[in-house]
Amino acid sequence: MWRLTVAPLLALISLSTALDNGLLRTPPMGWMAWERFRCDIDCKDDPVNCIGEKLFQDMADRMAEDGWKELGYEYIIIDDCWMARARNKSGLLEADPVRFPGGIPNLARYIHDRGLKLGIYSDVGVMTCMGFPGTPLDKIETDAKTFASWGVDYLKFDGCYSNPVQQMLGYPRMSKALNATGRPIAYSCSWPVYVGGLPPNVNYSLMGDICNLWRNYYDIQDSWDSVQGIIDWFSANQDDLQVAAGPGKWNDPDMLIIGNFGLSLDQARSQMALWAIMAAPLIMSNDLRNLDNAARAILQNKVAISINQDPSGIQGRRLLREKSHIEVYWRPLSQSASALVFLCRRQDMPFMYKSSLAKLNYSVGTYEVYDVFMSRTVGVFNDTTEFKVSINPSGAVMWRLSPTTLENTQKVDWIST
Ligand SMILES: *[C@@H]1O[C@H](CO)[C@@H](O)[C@H](O)[C@H]1NC(C)=O
Ligand SMILES: *[C@@H]1O[C@H](CO)[C@@H](O)[C@H](O)[C@H]1NC(C)=O
Ligand SMILES: *[C@@H]1O[C@H](CO)[C@@H](O)[C@H](O)[C@H]1NC(C)=O
Repeated sequence: MWRLTVAPLLALISLSTALDNGLLRTPPMGWMAWERFRCDIDCKDDPVNCIGEKLFQDMADRMAEDGWKELGYEYIIIDDCWMARARNKSGLLEADPVRFPGGIPNLARYIHDRGLKLGIYSDVGVMTCMGFPGTPLDKIETDAKTFASWGVDYLKFDGCYSNPVQQMLGYPRMSKALNATGRPIAYSCSWPVYVGGLPPNVNYSLMGDICNLWRNYYDIQDSWDSVQGIIDWFSANQDDLQVAAGPGKWNDPDMLIIGNFGLSLDQARSQMALWAIMAAPLIMSNDLRNLDNAARAILQNKVAISINQDPSGIQGRRLLREKSHIEVYWRPLSQSASALVFLCRRQDMPFMYKSSLAKLNYSVGTYEVYDVFMSRTVGVFNDTTEFKVSINPSGAVMWRLSPTTLENTQKVDWIST
């Protein structure tokens, strides 16, 4: 059984280096169009929601004015379907002239003026997933230059309509091409998901050398089933995935769907908690123009965000799965702090889970425990303190723990002994 020590993990992580563009020392935070707005290109009948400059301007306004920016949410990312149907006479990509009448450079300016950053999308194949012009091998340098000249700050490079050889050549080549533009551009690679997401098909050391983040697994959909499937896959493969992550290089389990139609309040907390444990990008795909207060509170939870953004950048793990269908997740944080998540996979009623920090591999000592979603200190626990915690069906309780001195120990009345 492995012990709760950070040092061996750090040693493993230091074996490989990150893409040397200085970006994303903590996981990126922002907003992306795809899950919520897909490929809605009908600006005539649906001008408010179509993939066009108004949508991205609206989201930039909300992000700048509704407190998101101050919390670290900064990238506004265009996904598929922004392009004109063909390259122009000079062979360059252009935005659809009807939906983006000002072009991407104007949109970039709009976003930069609000202190935010712009992300864009392309595909290493001949076409994007939705059939728009892609960036095949012979266009990589051209398109990298175009994106840089437009003021783009982030590129999501998808992999539809490409084969493994084109991927093997194209993803590193785009990394070089972005670097050669001289503009710092965060680089998100969809390569792993197109080759099964795991070694030996994926060389995660190479991914860390050439990309700032990468999609490992299938697209998220607006449902708890989808979120659970992602959590299960990342946990089942955590031995391969955890060591790949670190400052400047992140596994990406895909967008936050909190605030949409598919998750209950408890399930939304579960997604936020697990994405914080996994050091996942916090890239929302929702409608910031009409988000309910409960979703906003979860997405703007400062302690959850600080756990996600912990500077040590060590991805967390699933510690155990109980027969009771409670799962416990753990992430080491800087200054000997840590996070625990108790996830309830039951569907009946709130479950009273009993354990102690010692049973969860914590070393001898005393820890102050803070409940992240209840925003209150639970108490000060010794490693042997028997605690119980009530977890709602498909919900999660998230704790932040910091070691304290024995002198600070207090008795907490509801703890059973
Ligand atoms: C390009 O890569 C070099 C080192 O490989 C790095 O020093 C430089 O900052 C990078 N430039 C950009 C714009 O990413
Ligand atoms: C093609 O698009 C680029 C970038 O948007 C633009 O600078 C160039 O003038 C266009 N060329 C033609 C022939 O329209
Ligand atoms: C994986 O990529 C690294 C470069 O980051 C390379 O040194 C190593 O040989 C590769 N491993 C395999 C099995 O190809």
